[in-house]
Amino acid sequence: MQQNAINELGQFIPLHYHYQMLSDKERMNAFQTAINQVVKPGDTVVELGSGTGVLSFFAARLGAEVWSVEYNPALMESSRQFIRNNGYADKVRLVLADAATWLPPEPADVVVCEMLHSALLREKQVQVITAFRNAHQKRFGTVPAMIPTATLLGVQPVLQSYDFNGFHAPVSLFQSPYAEAKDCIPLLEPAVYRMVDYDRCALEIYHADIAFPFSRTTTVNALRFITKNLLSIDYSKGTTVDWHNQHLVMPLPQTARMKAGQTLQISFSYRPGDPLDSLADSLQMIAPMDTVPQPRMREFALA
Ligand SMILES: C[S@@+](CC[C@H](N)C(=O)[O-])C[C@H]1O[C@@H](n2cnc3c(N)ncnc32)[C@H](O)[C@@H]1O
Repeated sequence: MQQNAINELGQFIPLHYHYQMLSDKERMNAFQTAINQVVKPGDTVVELGSGTGVLSFFAARLGAEVWSVEYNPALMESSRQFIRNNGYADKVRLVLADAATWLPPEPADVVVCEMLHSALLREKQVQVITAFRNAHQKRFGTVPAMIPTATLLGVQPVLQSYDFNGFHAPVSLFQSPYAEAKDCIPLLEPAVYRMVDYDRCALEIYHADIAFPFSRTTTVNALRFITKNLLSIDYSKGTTVDWHNQHLVMPLPQTARMKAGQTLQISFSYRPGDPLDSLADSLQMIAPMDTVPQPRMREFALA
């Protein structure tokens, strides 16, 4: 990957931001549970985009031999120290490389990749997994087990407060899926617009054209994008280990007053890994009446 592309927002994640990821209990517990479920002693595990190396550590602790691939040299140095200090330097081989083009010298049993971002925007999960999986299959004839297994993408109309101490600013924002958002009212159940299966995904445009029928009178001014990752699936028990990225709430071009029986038609398209603006710029709505233009703010809310 070109250096300027690596420095783009979402591709370069400095060490202090990794603290947020390390202290995100839902994320850490879900990945640890999925790794415990899938990785067996003696497995060869490849982690794509290993950051501090925490997920490689989880796999090594189970007795796996781990290849840990990271393209940020500063992170690689920190990760080397962390892995050594945690006692797994002999189990985790750190590789400074672009995970989209690197292959291990031996077939992998399991791949772990957490380049996940809301709506699969910004980070290159789909590009990296697709490239790695296809190259791995070509060289070794097998597709490793993937953590995550799949991602479900959904969207729902909401009424979001954009009042900031009396200052009205409809901006894209991120919301915890694990806490009640008091300033956001979901109006209808989410519609799933894409299921990404990491065993067979390709880099495609995600296009959605969805009709939301309203059964009561209400006001809608935003869409909430939901990103549910199925980290692992236990088919014998019929259970999954799930982890949600932050919800992305994006203002609609207009605020619409919907009456019972009326339908809000929305459409958008983007490629996974695109910046948030690419989704925002493609967003269109057809509402029956009573729409009030809402100024569109460029992306500045970082998550
Ligand atoms: C969201 S962080 C996750 C880090 C770590 N796996 C964890 O769970 O704490 C994604 C990591 O992938 C790295 N990354 C992104 N694109 C990459 C690529 N093409 N090759 C190697 N590493 C990459 C980033 O530098 C970052 O450290």
